[in-house]
Amino acid sequence: MCGIVGYIGAQQAAPILLDGLSKLEYRGYDSAGICVYSAKGFQIEKTKGRLAALRTATADGASMTGTIGIGHTRWATHGAPSHENSHPHLSANGKICLVHNGIIENYLILKEFLLAQGKTFCSETDTEVAANLLEYYYELEGDLLRAVRRTTEKLCGSYALGILCADRPDSMIAVKKDSPLIFGFGEGENFIASDVPAILRYTRKVVYLNDGDMVEFTANGATFYNALGEQVSKTPEHITWEMSAAEKGGFPHFMLKEIHEQPKALRDTISPRVKNGRVVLDDIKLTPEYLRGIRRIYIVACGSAYYVGCLGKYILEKTCRIPVEPILASEFRYSEPVLGDDSLVIIISQSGETADTLAALREANTLGARTLAIVNVVGSAISKAAHDVIYTWAGPEIAVATTKAYSTQLSVLYLLALYIGDALGTLSAEEYNAMLHALVALPEQLTQVLSEENLAHIEALAQEYKSHHDVFFIGRNLDSATCLEGSLKLKEIAYVHSEAYAAGELKHGPISLIEDDTLVVAVATVPALFEKTMSNVKEVKARGANVLGLTTVDFADEIAKTVDRPLLVPRTHPLLQPSLNVVPLQLLSYYVALARGCDVDKPRNLAKSVTVE
Ligand code: AGP
Repeated sequence: MCGIVGYIGAQQAAPILLDGLSKLEYRGYDSAGICVYSAKGFQIEKTKGRLAALRTATADGASMTGTIGIGHTRWATHGAPSHENSHPHLSANGKICLVHNGIIENYLILKEFLLAQGKTFCSETDTEVAANLLEYYYELEGDLLRAVRRTTEKLCGSYALGILCADRPDSMIAVKKDSPLIFGFGEGENFIASDVPAILRYTRKVVYLNDGDMVEFTANGATFYNALGEQVSKTPEHITWEMSAAEKGGFPHFMLKEIHEQPKALRDTISPRVKNGRVVLDDIKLTPEYLRGIRRIYIVACGSAYYVGCLGKYILEKTCRIPVEPILASEFRYSEPVLGDDSLVIIISQSGETADTLAALREANTLGARTLAIVNVVGSAISKAAHDVIYTWAGPEIAVATTKAYSTQLSVLYLLALYIGDALGTLSAEEYNAMLHALVALPEQLTQVLSEENLAHIEALAQEYKSHHDVFFIGRNLDSATCLEGSLKLKEIAYVHSEAYAAGELKHGPISLIEDDTLVVAVATVPALFEKTMSNVKEVKARGANVLGLTTVDFADEIAKTVDRPLLVPRTHPLLQPSLNVVPLQLLSYYVALARGCDVDKPRNLAKSVTVE
């Protein structure tokens, strides 16, 4: 995610802004910039790349004089990483300067309106649209506070804005919706920031702003307004965290923080692409005519991204009635795949830099297939090499073990399934609406899975299982694909050997490995196959297995009769059930890894992005 900081006080602002941004680097970014205001007007420095380049460009801030300023680290969403697209952004007449964390979903329509009003733009960003819209309303209203309120009323999406205006050199305005923003009280100075670490060195007295809140502040005072524009008082909280905990938002590990970010990541990925009850994929150029000519879909990826592809086979074949073949990127590139212009190759990658996946993509392009990338990093090599790109808006994923990227990749496959199924007429209106309704409801249901009660239950299970080894994950159909991811999580962060098997496959050999107390995790959420999976559970139970059974709440009574320990998730549309099922498996692996003293965020032998073969 982007990070913003703001300062007003008696000290030179630039060094404080640079220091604050350095504490937000963990959020991931691809460019940075600061703006300081003084009698000289706005001084802006911004650079693509790392913060070090900005420090060099500003002599660690010494080249910029002024005691009020804003800063930004950019995680590109609209517009690739570049100097022009970096924040802070000036409005057309140069009177307003702002920084933004979030995604303005309706920026294109607002930009068209502003262009028609004669506003000029120098970037591709949604943020510059906000700056010019604010200028437009400021010219109309003559009052900056009212102009900010009118501007934010027009913005769809998420934003945390830090705003400077040349007409008010001693004050700053900040406003937020769906993106985090805190206000920090200092002595003769005040701060805003996306997150606590940016200002923890200067103050521990903070207010977490609520959606719709606005604050206008100077060095010596602050006035807060709620979403209705009413002036309100705010009671500061005292931060007791140390810096390392603060970067994780108070969570002990990035992995747990990112597991908890999944509802927001899904919402950010899905909602910009659902308008008036329809899936709208402006990102891609797959016309109905082209889609009708597709004879085969390949899904090419590595690791967890490949396991998303394994789910994609069931999801896309069910909705689009086109043969789908998930294939490991490292295999694809050496298997002389039989494909051509009637093949759609879907490439999935969080980093967008995985060597095997990038090579497979290039091979697919060479062979004449159309390539569509599902990527989490704007401007990454894979995003540039594919014909079409659909970004997951998961924000930077810091933990090596993927969680929120996996979940958002899966959500994009659901969007694609609806989009293609609708174009091909292979989804009835009823099926389309049922699936879309369930998709939009997923984030809230994920929040239920992440309840304190559920976390405690899964942590207790992990204590019970922490000494097990040679674990089996079994399931059928979609559940068998979920087992692949559940097994990988346990292997990669808890270093516990585990295998995922189609439940119907055990009797063809692997069941010989089942001994007394062998842990078997049975995922049984496909309604039509529940009884068959329970039969497989009875087979392993008969040989001494200790079975953890994951199913939906409507099978709670049945599963309790068969397994040793139940693990329940809410029911959703059968095709979307994997989105909920995976979270308890992520948590189980996390807590087992903790119980085994493993380095959860940086597991041994692994890298976040495998950029070598
Ligand atoms: C999953 O937890 C791992 N981090 C790994 O399997 C990862 O999914 C794989 O290396 C692919 O990475 P990518 O999505 O960045 O291409």
